[in-house]
Amino acid sequence: MSAATPTTPAPPAVVRSREQLHDALTSWTLSGPEPTDQRAVVMTMGALHDGHLELVRRAREAAGPTGQVVVTIFVNPLQFGAGEDLDRYPRDLDGDVAKLASVGADLVFAPTPDVVYPDGDPIVRVSAGRVGEVLEGESRPGHLDGVLTVVLKLMHLVRPDVALFGEKDAQQLLAVRRMVRDLDVDVEVLGVPIVREPDGLAMSSRNAYLSDNERSAALALSRALRAGADAADGGPQAVLAAASGILEGAGGVEVDYLALVDPTTVDPVPADFRGSALLLVAARAGATRLIDNQAVDLAGSANPQEKPSD
Ligand code: PAF
Repeated sequence: MSAATPTTPAPPAVVRSREQLHDALTSWTLSGPEPTDQRAVVMTMGALHDGHLELVRRAREAAGPTGQVVVTIFVNPLQFGAGEDLDRYPRDLDGDVAKLASVGADLVFAPTPDVVYPDGDPIVRVSAGRVGEVLEGESRPGHLDGVLTVVLKLMHLVRPDVALFGEKDAQQLLAVRRMVRDLDVDVEVLGVPIVREPDGLAMSSRNAYLSDNERSAALALSRALRAGADAADGGPQAVLAAASGILEGAGGVEVDYLALVDPTTVDPVPADFRGSALLLVAARAGATRLIDNQAVDLAGSANPQEKPSD
């Protein structure tokens, strides 16, 4: 008896227009899904890496075996500022579709800008409010407004039950959660933990820009975050001092910001804060801007205002 040949999973169907997307969504709805089946969406700008693939695996779990997993691939011009890397942002639709075959994606929606923005730049946009003005917003004014505008449009076009976003873009995830809550969008938002290279570098499509030297220098970001989290017992100032010590000692990275924030507001935590905080860093290695973050548990930290009892 011959051994069964392993079957290669079928690649997902690819649709480019609103009409094709509508037909593919409708045919799943008409196929009679179970009441527990869900439609889950993972929104990406392509150049997929293992971090994205993990999002799609989680989407498969959330959707159920006969649910529908939709991946959108769209490099959204609205979220790039003047002088940013819109033109050189890596694009490889065929490669991306091939990678998605193994992780359970059913459908890829890969529109061109004229499909997403048929009337040109939208006049009415979503504002991220003060969440969009600090940290990422200071370095990239309007970026989060552009993200939220396309995320809301894609939610309307795909009509998902669940949308999954990576925790690496922590401020983006918070802004999406706030938009869904503040504007009553009927979609569940799930955050998925950061996927790291074995040496700690957070996976990002922009890592492809790094030279070997820049990539080594970029490791300072994850080392700084770990040092900060390890100093949690000493309170917020100790966390920031430990992380900035690593960043200052490392050559080859230019820090944009290092901040310890409340994960629900991105406001900096006060010096006597106790609870869960998020340590965020953005820095340039050469011309490449990288971001990373790490949860910090300050629940048991020393309060500098309390006198030690002896
Ligand atoms: O995180 C991203 O890749 C993008 O900001 C998103 C959410 C796909 C919107 O363009």
